[in-house]
Amino acid sequence: MKIDILTLFPEMFSGAFTESILKRAIQNGKVEINLHNFRDFTDDPHGKVDDTPYGGGAGMVLAAQPIFDCVESIRTPESKVILLTPAGVPYKQRIAYDLSHEKHLIIICGHYEGFDERISSLADMEISIGDYVLTGGEIPAMVLTDSIVRLIPGVINERSHIEDSFNENYLLDYPTYTKPRVFRGMEVPEILLSGDHAKIDEWRYSESVKRTQERRPDLLEK
Ligand code: ADE
Repeated sequence: MKIDILTLFPEMFSGAFTESILKRAIQNGKVEINLHNFRDFTDDPHGKVDDTPYGGGAGMVLAAQPIFDCVESIRTPESKVILLTPAGVPYKQRIAYDLSHEKHLIIICGHYEGFDERISSLADMEISIGDYVLTGGEIPAMVLTDSIVRLIPGVINERSHIEDSFNENYLLDYPTYTKPRVFRGMEVPEILLSGDHAKIDEWRYSESVKRTQERRPDLLEK
């Protein structure tokens, strides 16, 4: 898979993509990630990428031209263009699965007070990572990239994502433990030490259901 990210702040991504699983996925050729500073595409002689809003109002609005030119320089018939905005569809694990099967994603990070509405016409999909407003689309782009890349076959142990919270069953993860058996008086549940794998699977499933009922009953309604 190839992911192209359009941003005014490419350096924000260095930590996210140079550590841990994403770093390994890039090194192993599972994903190619390119960062594009769309300021490089502006026609403005002073490098401006934004302007005041028509009709008045506070703040600056990202202009269409640099983003159109940047997308058009990398888009192919196989590309899926995603625009990050708090007004997009709420991001869910299901969307991450679907996007992990794409060959080429182009992710546009909005910034400042907003973007020229005509930029929407470039996008196949507008996504919000949650009902809160961030200063820009960079952190949402990291969230999307991380959640999608880990689902690419061979990036992590596949059993891990079968067991994930929010898999097709819409259940939260069951509790897990490691050594020691007793930590500050808190004990590992006896069943996990029994070696009876059928019983352990049953216990884990019922803990998942219990936890989901307590914390996210809205997921069970699905
Ligand atoms: N840009 C600013 N806030 C955002 C959000 N919640 N989701 C996606 N993009 C954003």
